[in-house]
Parts: sequence; structure tokens; C-alpha cells
Amino acid sequence: MNKSGVKPAEGKLGVLTVGLGAVSTTFITGVLMTRKGLAKPVGSMTQYDIIRVGEGEDEKYLKYNQIVPLAKLDDIVFGAWDVYPANAYESATNAEVLKEKDIEPVKDELVKIVPMKAAFDKNYAKRLDGNNVKDCKTRWDMVQELKKDIQNFKKTNNCARVVVLWAASTEVYVPVDEKVHGTLAALEAAMKADDREHIAPSMCYAYAALTEGAPFIMGAPNTTVDIPAMWELAEKVKLPIAGKDFKTGQTLVKSGFAPILGVRCLGLSGWFSTNILGNRDGLVLDEPANFRTKEVSKLSTLESILVPEKQPDLYTDYYHKVRINYYPPRNDNKEGWDNIDIFGWMGYPMQIKINFLCRDSILAAPLCLDLVLLSDLAARAGRYGIQRFLSFFLKSPMHDYTKKEVPVNNLFEQYVMLKNAIREMGGYKADQRID
Ligand SMILES: NC(=O)c1ccc[n+]([C@@H]2O[C@H](COP(=O)([O-])OP(=O)(O)OC[C@H]3O[C@@H](n4cnc5c(N)ncnc54)[C@H](O)[C@@H]3O)[C@@H](O)[C@H]2O)c1
Repeated sequence: MNKSGVKPAEGKLGVLTVGLGAVSTTFITGVLMTRKGLAKPVGSMTQYDIIRVGEGEDEKYLKYNQIVPLAKLDDIVFGAWDVYPANAYESATNAEVLKEKDIEPVKDELVKIVPMKAAFDKNYAKRLDGNNVKDCKTRWDMVQELKKDIQNFKKTNNCARVVVLWAASTEVYVPVDEKVHGTLAALEAAMKADDREHIAPSMCYAYAALTEGAPFIMGAPNTTVDIPAMWELAEKVKLPIAGKDFKTGQTLVKSGFAPILGVRCLGLSGWFSTNILGNRDGLVLDEPANFRTKEVSKLSTLESILVPEKQPDLYTDYYHKVRINYYPPRNDNKEGWDNIDIFGWMGYPMQIKINFLCRDSILAAPLCLDLVLLSDLAARAGRYGIQRFLSFFLKSPMHDYTKKEVPVNNLFEQYVMLKNAIREMGGYKADQRID
């Protein structure tokens, strides 16, 4: 145990990804390649970032694993569920994110990662038609099957701990319904009553993970763990939950750029964001009900950074629009355009254009690694419930809206929260100094 009582990261850490598509296979392949010394985990905070700790003469800059006990990459064992039966090697190859030269050296390990049957309901992702799907009569059956999967995986791979990461397709939008999602008892009753309208398959994964002792991370914008019933469960089993939606390309830029306008008191009249992408994620999001989930998540970013109530002259009624267009030729190489209409002194208008030619999964992979390692750390530190310090990695960070908590979307404020949590878990004092 370290000086602030965090348990050591002993034994194997099982990382179970829900979905073995572009993001998961890029993440897994990158970790395996890094382990062999054949690639660098660029973009990962846990592998690269340094944090100032200590005061006066004791002040120093340390990497995360010098401050807190993080699981080693060598100790990670991967497993997955997917609707399609392709193993991680086939799926990484099909995704066309990584070149052959970056996959082949770890082929033997990837081939062994064969997805378990998915807990799936086509009504939640109409564009998918894989057959590697569990035959479950009710949502409660799904939970039981998933629990067995986690138990078997843990036993077979001799894992001391497991983390479950949702990197599967975005489900259709499930608005929070107080009657079903408001309490754990109501949620369990709805699962048992097979209420398919209110219980998304992702909720079954989260419920199974948490009741099997595994922290759960939601990398898509699904409302899965962003409901009071799941917060209650996480508190009950004393495990961390994190979500939602990896903050990768356009929203990363937005949450880093919007503060420029805010701190210089420049006005905003409109922000139009559009994208083209052609991977399977784009295909699923081409369905309006699935896009709705993403839209809600992407739109939330500006609201807490440029707040009309705080600056009515500058931010009242700005027009914020987000579009995603499925365009197969681009595959995973998403292109995003932002047109920002701002105004300055005496209301004179100006425009800013941002054109980001990114790679979706290349940006998401390091977030997967960080979210997994930091959720595992949080669990060993005895932290449970919503992990707000992980907001840094998420587009639509979870917060207890029933207590009128506001989300923190400003990238730099999120960074302070992240660093302070690491400092505290390392037994150092939190502070607000910028460096
Ligand atoms: N890449 C990014 O920049 C980024 C950013 C934010 C969020 N995301 C989200 O991450 C998720 C994964 O993205 P991707 O590009 O890897 O997509 P993908 O389509 O390549 O992979 C998703 C996989 O999930 C599987 N799946 C769907 N429902 C499932 C279920 N119920 N159980 C098990 N497997 C299931 C699909 O069969 C598919 O293989 C998406 O929800 C996406 O919106 C990605």
C-alpha cells in the first residue's frame, strides 16, 4: 500500500472490451506492440505526462507511475465481446486503421483474442447484422450470461482484477426515465420484466461488470451508466464508473478552443461542426436514432464553457450545430470542419475555421488505455461512483444532475482535476497552480 492507502497493482489485469472493432483493435494492437518495444503509446497521459508534486525544495515532476501504483502493460490480458465472430487479428486488419507492419508482429497474440458472444438487440443498432450473439430470453438472462463470461475469463486467465470498457457501437438514444432508471430496485425490476425499451444491452454489460467487481467505462455516448440507478449500484458495490463518449477529435478541439473565447470575453453567435467518416462507427451513426445519442453528447460541450447566464451579452442564443456524415471512402480517417462565428469590440463579426484531418481510432486508443489504467487505480484507491477526474478523457462527462452538479467541459479545468486526483492518490497535496 502507498502512503495514501492505494493497494498495489499486483497480478494480472483483465481488460474486457465490449466491441472488437476499430477502436478496440487499435488499442489492443498498440499495447501489444508497445510491450514488444515495437511502437510508442503516443497520446497516452499515463505513459507520458508528468505532474508537479511536492512543495519548496521537495518540488519535482514525476510520471504517473512514479506517483501512484499503475498496472503495468505487461500485466494486461485482453478479452472482448462482439456481434461479429472475427478475432482481433482479422478485425484489426478489416478496420484498415493500422498498416500490416504494425499488426503482423503481434498476430499470434491477436488471433487468440476471439470475441465472446455479444449481448445484443438489433433494435439498438439496426445497421449491424452479425451472428455472434447470445440467445437470451430476457435482459436479466443477458446479465447472467455476461456475469458468467466475466467469471470464466477471470478464472481462465488468472486475473486479479478486471475492467470492462465499452468500445462498441453507439446505441439508439435512451432518454432517462425516472420510473425505470431512477433507482437500482426499479432498474433490476425492469431487467427481470424484460423491458427492452428502457434497458439497453449496454446496461446489462454495466450491471454484470459492477456486480462482478469490475469498474465500467462507457466510451460511447450511451446513457448506460449515466443514470441514478447505476450510480446507486456503483456506490453499493464500491466501484468506479466513468463516461461518457471518448473525447477524441472535434470535441477535443472544441473543449480546448472555446476557453480562448471565454477568457478573452469574445462573443459567440454560432458554431457549426461537421464531419465526414466512413468506418463502421459512421455507418451506425448514419441511422438517425443512433446519431441522436451522439448529437446530445457532442452538443453538451459548449454549454458549460460559454455560459449564457454568466455572460448574457456574449453567449445568449448562439447557434450550435453538429453533423456527422457517413462517407465510406474516408474510412477511419475522419475530416472535421468547424466554422465559428464570433464577435468582438462593438459587436463586429469575425470567423474562425478549423479543419482537422484526424484518425479516429488513433486518437481514441490512448484514451482507452488511460481510462482503463486509471479506473483500475481508482478502484484500488477505494474510489467509487462517478469518477469526475476522468472528465478530461470524455466528451460528455458524467455528473450528478439530480444534485444540480454541472459538468466540467473546459479541457484545462479537466486537466487540473485529473492531476489533482493523481496527486491525492499519491499522497500529495492538490493545488490550482498552472504549469
Ligand atoms: N474513434 C473515436 O474517435 C470515437 C470517439 C468517441 C466515441 N467513439 C465510440 O466508440 C465506439 C467504437 O467505435 P469504433 O470505431 O471502434 O466502431 P466499430 O463499429 O469499428 O466497432 C464497434 C464494434 O462493436 C460491436 N458491437 C455493437 N454492439 C455490440 C454489443 N451489444 N455487444 C458487443 N459488441 C457490439 C460491433 O459489432 C462492432 O464490431 C463507438 O460507439 C463510437 O461512437 C469513438
